[in-house]
Amino acid sequence: WSRTSTRNDSGELTIGGVTATELIEQYGSPCYVIDETDARARASEIHSVFHQAFADIGAEIELHYASKALLTVEVAKWMVGAGLGLDVASLGELEVGLAAGVTPASIGMHGNNKTDATLRRAVEVGVGTIIIDSLQEVARLEAIATELGKVQPVLVRINSGIHASTHDFLATSHEDQKFGLTFDAAREAIAAIRRASSLEFTGLHSHIGSGIFEPAGFGAAAAKLMEFRAELLAHGPVPEVNLGGGFGVAYVPSDEAPSLAELARGIANEVARVCAETNSDLPRFVFEPGRSVIAPSGTTLYRVGTTKTVQVTAASGEVAPRCYVSVDGGMGDNLRPAIYGAEYTVRMANRAPDAPAQLVRVVGSHCESGDVVIHHDYLPQDVAPGDIVAVPVTGAYCFSMSSNYNYTPRPAMVAVSDGTSRLLVRRVEIEDLLSYDAAWTPSEGRDS
Ligand code: LLP
Repeated sequence: WSRTSTRNDSGELTIGGVTATELIEQYGSPCYVIDETDARARASEIHSVFHQAFADIGAEIELHYASKALLTVEVAKWMVGAGLGLDVASLGELEVGLAAGVTPASIGMHGNNKTDATLRRAVEVGVGTIIIDSLQEVARLEAIATELGKVQPVLVRINSGIHASTHDFLATSHEDQKFGLTFDAAREAIAAIRRASSLEFTGLHSHIGSGIFEPAGFGAAAAKLMEFRAELLAHGPVPEVNLGGGFGVAYVPSDEAPSLAELARGIANEVARVCAETNSDLPRFVFEPGRSVIAPSGTTLYRVGTTKTVQVTAASGEVAPRCYVSVDGGMGDNLRPAIYGAEYTVRMANRAPDAPAQLVRVVGSHCESGDVVIHHDYLPQDVAPGDIVAVPVTGAYCFSMSSNYNYTPRPAMVAVSDGTSRLLVRRVEIEDLLSYDAAWTPSEGRDS
């Protein structure tokens, strides 16, 4: 739960001092609620614990918030306010960052298939780093920077073969995957970058996956990169090593996530050990955390529509009831359970959970049986249509991966703090969706 989530005297859930009922009444249901106090505090905390841990090993560090986790103009401002730069992975994310007034020099631009238009815009505005992800990109970027009369700093993303032990979909550094360059291809790319007068080679990048609790994977990736860096140093400077993002958070009570400070210390110690073992000077380190900054600050509120109980036969042969609780959202606002089997918890939000608990599966309203919000958790036996339930830790990769499947409107996203709420992103209405349909005219729409 985000740090200002609590229950008031009547047992109702409040976030940032605003009750779940008030939020749903004002902004509609479902509703994404972002605890602004929590988000800003976490961003500052991750900044300070990483700066401290790396200062302790005598290294410089920068953090870029991975905007794919959750991005709005205001969220970008909070991150900058906490001292973070921005990692963007598309032209759209870049434009939101620019609209928020993020200093272009503190932006890193990713993508395995950036278009010329994207590269041109990034160079024009003066993005701090472009992370090269293919051999072809070097020549294209060189031509664009030359034409614009600029010298563009670039990193080269390495496919190191190190991948974090996490869900397969999330491990982005297997040998057999689309991101990064093999060491051989990287040698070729770096030689070409160093020959190009409009490009400046500033270092190496690697991202080993997502949802990682152990510092060891970062150590293994750092070891590969530092070894390669030692070879590259013979031909010129390599001031920066970017080890990507991927720090995990606890979604359910059984997830034992280290604190941000423990993780920062663990990673800094791994990196210091690797540098000592390879006799390397310390480069400037960059990390790109997304989930760990914003996931715990988000809570999704849903209204219960129907309930039904089925008998479930366990592996032991035991038969037990399970209540299917249908809510008014689902895979459109949170795709993660459906595609990753991600687990969340659920709690009664509009009143105290006084009745004894029953096993529930919370399901969405989409026309698909995999449309599950919570696979297994408990809600009071008297949960009924009209109740509001809350699902915490939905700040990352929920809004950003939302869809309008079944022509379902996307919920509003709201910031709460100090007893007040305000809109971050308005709800998408059915008329908004219809307005994209070239054959629809407003006069054929509903009376309003
Ligand atoms: N840097 C790079 C190059 C990345 O590819 C990613 C995530 C990050 C940073 C941020 O990782 P984080 O700190 O948020 O774990 N949709 C999936 C997550 C995909 C992450 C892809 N890349 C999910 O919902 O779990």
